[in-house]
Amino acid sequence: MKKIQISPSILSADFSQLGNEIKRLEKGGADMIHVDVMDGHFVPNLTIGPPVIKSLKKYSSILFDVHLMISPVHKYIEAYANAGADIITIHPEATDNMDLSISKIKELNKKVGVSLNPQTKVDVIIDYLNKIDLVLIMSVNPGFGGQKFMPEVLTKIKELKKLQNDKNLDFDIEIDGGINFENSKKAIEAGANILVSGTTIFKSNNGDIKKNIELLKSK
Ligand code: DX5
Ligand code: ZN
Repeated sequence: MKKIQISPSILSADFSQLGNEIKRLEKGGADMIHVDVMDGHFVPNLTIGPPVIKSLKKYSSILFDVHLMISPVHKYIEAYANAGADIITIHPEATDNMDLSISKIKELNKKVGVSLNPQTKVDVIIDYLNKIDLVLIMSVNPGFGGQKFMPEVLTKIKELKKLQNDKNLDFDIEIDGGINFENSKKAIEAGANILVSGTTIFKSNNGDIKKNIELLKSK
């Protein structure tokens, strides 16, 4: 059974204090930092890019779990790797050649993640499961924090977990979007071992990050 890890999303952080917010997350027990990169094209929102990630890297010693919601993505992979991404997660719809993009991330010695939007079926990535380190299951439509959890994706996680067991593979299953104290246990029981959370971690219990991370893990 894989250890349950928490990857807080800085999308819900105070963007004027991102360095200090990352320090707070690390002190609060975060296992990695979920960095949501949005280009205003693949998703209708715009956040940060390589220069900001590079400057944030010195504020933390834990992994940067970089979620690229950008399209086209292939030609930017190297920039995010050089900026300090440790895990680079891409969306299949954002590349013309998944094999090439996966190989590119591996060539740069980074962990490879592939993300499935709520409407995207597992079949789309079944041929890549033996080549990747992580599958990121979106439980909201990507683009914004604070959205409502879509419980129907739990079926997808169960399907992925069965495939992982049947094929004797070892990729992480990460769930992202609307994770809170009511649904985190169901997500773990379905097979997720990494929980992304922004709003719940930064806003619940008067913003007590340590308490919120512990509560998400313990459910
Ligand atoms: C949405 C992002 C998520 C989001 C999670 O496109 O990929 O990581 O920031 O935030 P919450 O936990 O508030 O849904
Ligand atoms: Zn994300």
